[in-house]
Amino acid sequence: MKIIHLSDLHIGQSDNLEKCNQIADWILENRDIHQSELVIISGDLVDDGQSWQFEQAREIIDRLRQGGFTVLVAPGNHDYGPNGFRESSTSQRDFCELISGVKEYPALFIIEGQAIVILDSMAEEIRNMEIWGAQGYLGKEQLQKLDQILDDLAENRAVENIVLTMHHHPFDYLFYHGLRDRDDLKGVISRRKDAPPRVNVLLFGHKHIENRFNDSEDNKEELFGIDLIYASGQTVERKSDGKMVLPVIDLDDKTIKRYFID
Ligand SMILES: [Fe+2]
Repeated sequence: MKIIHLSDLHIGQSDNLEKCNQIADWILENRDIHQSELVIISGDLVDDGQSWQFEQAREIIDRLRQGGFTVLVAPGNHDYGPNGFRESSTSQRDFCELISGVKEYPALFIIEGQAIVILDSMAEEIRNMEIWGAQGYLGKEQLQKLDQILDDLAENRAVENIVLTMHHHPFDYLFYHGLRDRDDLKGVISRRKDAPPRVNVLLFGHKHIENRFNDSEDNKEELFGIDLIYASGQTVERKSDGKMVLPVIDLDDKTIKRYFID
């Protein structure tokens, strides 16, 4: 199975809506090329958590869903309020009602033998209502549930891969942009001695910098025993050649193919 990984679309800001429509068109028109039926968006779908932004995003997601794609979206800091650091329970509710339909995290979807687990890296952050920037906070409750889900999935022979997706960056961060309980998360998802990986693929966004964490000097995939760890860049950002990058993750061989959209 292949996953189209989009992130940080920030619909509502500049011409991002138009770019997202272009991306959706490309996905719908190039099925033979990308060979995927699953789109994962790792947060910051919209720019300010406003209803009108979610409604615009919804139209694009509906187009993909009507075209036969499954679209799963993790919430980001910008989805939960203005400027990405003024969390609002109205935005949280709109994200659930208009976009994800998910009321409880971690959310588990099993699609053709692949387990997709979506985390809400704003769950505890929004409960705190402490304005310290664009940080994320999963919270003990969500991490305990994740631990249990991973235990259960490890016993499930019908599951080939476990794909964990969240918005916040668990490794690098700018000042006040990190995941507060990153160390606890690592404790839950790290591979245990003499056991198969607890998580096969870890996907996130937030930093707007694309990177696979398998650098020979600092190989996080090896360190945590995860086959593929990948941060998508901001999909709507045009690179110096004017093109947007669309990464497609191949779960069979844990490779990433990058396609370019004009
Ligand atoms: Fe973000």
